Amino acid sequence: MPKLGVNVDHIATLRQARGGTEPDPVTAAAMAELAGADGITVHLREDRRHIQDRDVMLLRRTVQTHLNLEMAATDEMVAIAMKVVPDYVTLVPEKRQELTTEGGLDVVKQKQKLTKQIDLLHQAGITVSLFVDPDLAQLKASVRVKADYIEIHTGTYCDAKGSAKVAELAKIEEAIKAGKKLGLGVNAGHGLNYQNIRPVLALGGVEEYNIGHSIISRAVLVGLDRAVREMAALVHGC
Ligand code: PXP
Repeated sequence: MPKLGVNVDHIATLRQARGGTEPDPVTAAAMAELAGADGITVHLREDRRHIQDRDVMLLRRTVQTHLNLEMAATDEMVAIAMKVVPDYVTLVPEKRQELTTEGGLDVVKQKQKLTKQIDLLHQAGITVSLFVDPDLAQLKASVRVKADYIEIHTGTYCDAKGSAKVAELAKIEEAIKAGKKLGLGVNAGHGLNYQNIRPVLALGGVEEYNIGHSIISRAVLVGLDRAVREMAALVHGC
């Protein structure tokens, strides 16, 4: 049975909008675990736009399932990961101006740097995953740099329409098969929601799905009724 890793970055985005203390992604992570999440994912971005160092430190101590730290392949982030020692590190490309992670990591072009960083992370006992496009050259390079897992970038599939969507799903299917054949663990994520995940689930072979935006978006809407009722009861004095 595939696992579900819940990404709580968007809870932190809401907190940062006011610069206060709520909602707390650490509390959200505990709630996600109580509801059945198999893992918790956070992306500590270089600009700290949502998740903060404090969140990662606390999550390391409170997460009962496994903690997957997404981060850019930089020396600063590798040093933080070696201090925190999450269960997994997922290396992702990062651009300051992007709204969210755009595209997979170019493992082919960064083989030397990634080999060194993955070796350091392994020495600290951390399992390493690389967020890559469903592209055979990137998968083969992932093996060469000694990654344990790949996370297949599903964003292009999620955004595609019509026949392009069918073609993107076929690329994901090929990447799952190739990844497993190459001896890599295969995860997937980005842009998955309650509809578009179904055809991907039907392919089989994915160990863990990392999903954030659609779950937190749904939480806001399914939780709004109760939240308004509770405040209305206070205001109306009943
Ligand atoms: N996997 C990776 C590597 C990501 O960068 C993200 C976004 O932070 C996700 C999964 C989750 O994507 P989404 O929020 O669209 O579900």
